[in-house]
Amino acid sequence: MKITVPAIAKMKAEGRKITMVTAYDFPTAAIADAAGIDIILVGDSVGNVVLGYPSTIPVTMDETIHHTRAAARGRKNALLVADLPFLSYQVSLEEAIRNSGRCLKEAEAEAVKLEGGERVARTIEAISNADIPVMAHIGLTPQSVHALGGYRVQGRGDESRRRLLADAQAVEAAGAFSVVLEAIPGELAREITETIHIPTIGIGAGPHCSGQVLVFHDLVGLSERKVPSFVKKYADLYGAGVKAVQQFVSEVQSGKFPDEAHTYKSEK
Ligand code: KIV
Repeated sequence: MKITVPAIAKMKAEGRKITMVTAYDFPTAAIADAAGIDIILVGDSVGNVVLGYPSTIPVTMDETIHHTRAAARGRKNALLVADLPFLSYQVSLEEAIRNSGRCLKEAEAEAVKLEGGERVARTIEAISNADIPVMAHIGLTPQSVHALGGYRVQGRGDESRRRLLADAQAVEAAGAFSVVLEAIPGELAREITETIHIPTIGIGAGPHCSGQVLVFHDLVGLSERKVPSFVKKYADLYGAGVKAVQQFVSEVQSGKFPDEAHTYKSEK
């Protein structure tokens, strides 16, 4: 069944957990969709996870469109959300609407995600008023890594806690249909989830959110990169890949591959 934006809101109301995973291309989107995921996020983590950038900051709008289009071709039922890259929505409301619109018009996304709370409330409102559903993202916001001084847990201490609660309320009031809570204490995530009406989707935010998201490559163990402690690795595809290629190398070198079964005959 096709997952829509209203269906995601309904899941929170009905107490059904929402699942989201990143995908940046056709095969990973197809795997996620076949597994029955609710939301596929073409995250700007494409920058550090598959493009080899040191952070998400260098990711461009054109790269976002390119990867979202590829993921769209692999997805059937999941809601497809494109992550707006750094500086694609901060400069002006007009640019924010235009870049969000590109994700729908050119790449078949059904919603966009952007980082920030109260500070970006007007932007969320403007994009939503153009009938483009917006997923917000508060707590640890990787595009602010330099301002934050690193990838650190947020919402510890009364002031930070109050600010995050206010951020969650501001993005809801601005029209966001859901909000990602990244790297915050579980108790704060519970308080936010109980206070606002839109679904919260946690990453490193404990079990009390309306749903959970992980980066695909972390979940299936497809990279060697160091992952945060909240990541659960469900497979070791990197290890399996290295082993398979090692076997290929050895079989080619020894002449075992290709054998009869993997060689065309002159006649059928
Ligand atoms: O880009 C991304 O992968 C994300 C998720 C971690 C939520 O924003």
